[in-house]
Amino acid sequence: MSLIFNPLHPTFVAELNDVDLTDVRDDSIFQDIRRGMDEYGVLVVRNQFFDDDSQLAFAKGFDGKLHTKTGIAAIARNRFGNEALTDVANVDQDGQVLAADDRKRQYALANRLWHTDASFEDPPGRYSMLSARVLPENGPDTEFADTRTAYDELPAEMKPGLEDLQVHHSIAYSREQLGFEFSPEEAERLAGVIQPLIRTNPATGRKALYIAAHCSRIVDWPVPDGRLLLRELIEHATQPQFVYAHQWREGDLVIYDNRATMHRARPFEDTRYRRELRRITSLDV
Ligand code: OGA
Ligand code: MN
Repeated sequence: MSLIFNPLHPTFVAELNDVDLTDVRDDSIFQDIRRGMDEYGVLVVRNQFFDDDSQLAFAKGFDGKLHTKTGIAAIARNRFGNEALTDVANVDQDGQVLAADDRKRQYALANRLWHTDASFEDPPGRYSMLSARVLPENGPDTEFADTRTAYDELPAEMKPGLEDLQVHHSIAYSREQLGFEFSPEEAERLAGVIQPLIRTNPATGRKALYIAAHCSRIVDWPVPDGRLLLRELIEHATQPQFVYAHQWREGDLVIYDNRATMHRARPFEDTRYRRELRRITSLDV
């Protein structure tokens, strides 16, 4: 089987049509999707009405390990009893919309900062598979940024100095930027990991900036120098020409390569309208 990818942006993101990923019968489809992901970094597939079991079965089709050490696990119990199913929702255990001051909501607000999924874990997240289950009317976009083209378009004289830099990523740090407070036990659990600043996709040889709101410092640099460079790189990589805004419809599946993109949620009236997505992130594919 050979899939057809229709580009949605000049440098990344494609839409995949005429497939049913909720019930894959032909394993070669995973190879085709890997190929599409290597080329586009983000794939949009409409009308994929997953439930939790079929989404898990699809994610497992890539043969990789699934991300289960989420940050949220340090502060709240998973509604589904499976840490591989990340609950990207503004509701409590009973499906009621969270109050403005609810700690789970406060924690999740940092999804509005440009970030990657599971870069604070070793090995880090690779593909995230986000399935739209319940959306408010005119629900918010999720924006994606192309960190490969952003890398390509850095000034040539800047690139050699970035090549060997190592960066500390911590999900506690991205939340603390908004003033969210962790207990000492939570903070210890979320100590973070070191990642390279530049990643190369072995299948294509393309380099990408590996940056996110989780980046707290550059190893061996004074903290302010490091934070300034990280901030400048995020500003560079999120200029409008590198960004695609996905307008969600229920049943959408969006697969994105966290080693080639960043993303952020857009605001909506999240104390009034229920919104539920489920995410599964594979550590490798
Ligand atoms: C995520 C995420 C964005 C959104 O699931 O990791 O960042 O719009 N989601 O909910
Ligand atoms: Mn995310």
